[in-house]
Amino acid sequence: MKTKFDFIKMKESNDKITMVTAYDYPSAKLSQAANIDMILVGDSLGMVVLGYDSTVNVTLDDMIHHGKAVRRGAKDTFIVVDLPFMSYHISLEETLTNAKRVFQETGAQALKVEGGSKTIITVIEKLTEAGIPVVAHIGLTPQSVNVLGGFKVQGKDQANAERLIKEARAVEQAGAISCVLEGIPSELASVITKQLTIPTIGIGAGVDCDGQVLVYHDLLLYGVDRLPRFVKTYANLNQTTVGAVKSYIDEVKQEIFPADEHTYALNPETKLGE
Ligand code: KIV
Ligand code: NA
Repeated sequence: MKTKFDFIKMKESNDKITMVTAYDYPSAKLSQAANIDMILVGDSLGMVVLGYDSTVNVTLDDMIHHGKAVRRGAKDTFIVVDLPFMSYHISLEETLTNAKRVFQETGAQALKVEGGSKTIITVIEKLTEAGIPVVAHIGLTPQSVNVLGGFKVQGKDQANAERLIKEARAVEQAGAISCVLEGIPSELASVITKQLTIPTIGIGAGVDCDGQVLVYHDLLLYGVDRLPRFVKTYANLNQTTVGAVKSYIDEVKQEIFPADEHTYALNPETKLGE
């Protein structure tokens, strides 16, 4: 299992860090088999495998349920679990109670929180102080989609670019072990990456980040149809899956399946009454 120091070393030697989301046992097992550096149990599971329009509906119990399955599938991989919508905003006490549950029950190596405001900086400090490593996430933060007015690229203008640079420095200062940069111009991500000693993990943030993260179902094109510009697909499981299920349907209709090799026989001496 890699540690935060391995990830810092990778940043220093420009050995790119690879991260993919996983939400269940098979996706975790296969990602580990492919030798991924880190797995994210992202609250994107709300959209990708639960069918919600945003991540706002995802609950703490959802994250724990999926996080435990991922842990069972990838026992030797560094796992980060997202804290979901509003689970770290109501009070510091509730934040710590929620984070304790997710961290203990899933056996994750770190938790991730979105944003870089003063409140979030305090959250990062307090969790770190309690012994829970935190991955930060700034730029396009999907839990705030209704405030941002959509899934829009962030930090294009002077003021917002400068704000994101400040936020990145602040999350590092607060103790974050890594920072996800989502949906920001590549030049900005490049500047932030150079200024930080902790690794940046980009999604829609260009090639200069210290690592990249993609959603498992996006990169496989599996059960998703509308993809943002920043996604590259490396397979077409939509096509493979629909084709396979259609073949199964055809073979059942034509009595090709099940064949003899899929079928059991009685003992020869067994006689069935008619
Ligand atoms: O939930 C998620 O998949 C994420 C990544 C996009 C970083 O937070
Ligand atoms: Na997320």
